Amino acid sequence: MATCININGNIEEEAFVSVLDHGFLFGDSIYEVISTIDNKPCFLNEHLQRLRRSAEGISLKIPFADWWFCEQIKRTLEYANNQESYIRIVVTRGVGDINIDPSSCDSPCTLIFVTTAHFYPAELYKNGIHLAVVSIKRNSKDALNPGIKTGNYLNNVLAKIEADRLGAHDALMLNPFGQLTESTTSNFFFVQEGRIMTPSLDCGILAGITRDIVIRMARENGFPLEEGVWPVEALDMADEMFVTGTVKQLMPVTCLDGRIIGNGKPGDITRRLMNLYQGLLDRIE
Ligand code: PDD
Repeated sequence: MATCININGNIEEEAFVSVLDHGFLFGDSIYEVISTIDNKPCFLNEHLQRLRRSAEGISLKIPFADWWFCEQIKRTLEYANNQESYIRIVVTRGVGDINIDPSSCDSPCTLIFVTTAHFYPAELYKNGIHLAVVSIKRNSKDALNPGIKTGNYLNNVLAKIEADRLGAHDALMLNPFGQLTESTTSNFFFVQEGRIMTPSLDCGILAGITRDIVIRMARENGFPLEEGVWPVEALDMADEMFVTGTVKQLMPVTCLDGRIIGNGKPGDITRRLMNLYQGLLDRIE
């Protein structure tokens, strides 16, 4: 069981990037986090498609084709030989002059980072996590669009620091208009009187792959689901909440700003969706 880093096609146990890489200097990079089932990448096509969209969003030309990523991920997973893995693809702008002008960077750096899978404690799925609405706003779509998965996560880092100070597991962020968006590395859902609601992409959020699957799964199973725009007050009447992400999957939220949600345990609809999602993963070969 090991950590391996594939850097531009070469597998190393330790890898280094230049201090002049604009990914390091300016957060000028994009990334994806992928989980595995039976140590094979899960929803790889969807992640590679989003990586391409992120690249377009920052005018970065990825030097490798999708087949190259598939092959190199497979190679790196085999080399690391974990039972289950956490995969992170990072493509940086590359080495350039020490100023923000990207035109001096002519060779992007591509990393495929593989390590042992990270699992959240079962107790959190049983009891739910606590979120705090933080004062740090999610980046405006017109500034650094949260729909682009860049390596510039300082906005979310600051939100996480504030959530930690407030004694919560994670932050719930609002956009500059005070509308609900997402958590620092996951999308947000709430349930009211049997209706599932989640901020629409227009609010300035990442189009989460897990979010997409949960929306589809909920609709296919007859749960009413609405994507929309809500102020934080909409949560006053919420019966259930949960967040979604590649690593967390569906994680119940049972406390917001110190207020217990529902009966303080994961709600019925949340648990049903968690089971449906697990069933879907179990069916993946
Ligand atoms: N984060 N929102 C943000 C801001 C995210 O960073 C992520 C993913 C999500 C959920 O997206 P998905 O379902 O495609 O994983 C939502 C990854 C897991 C991370 O940075 O670790």
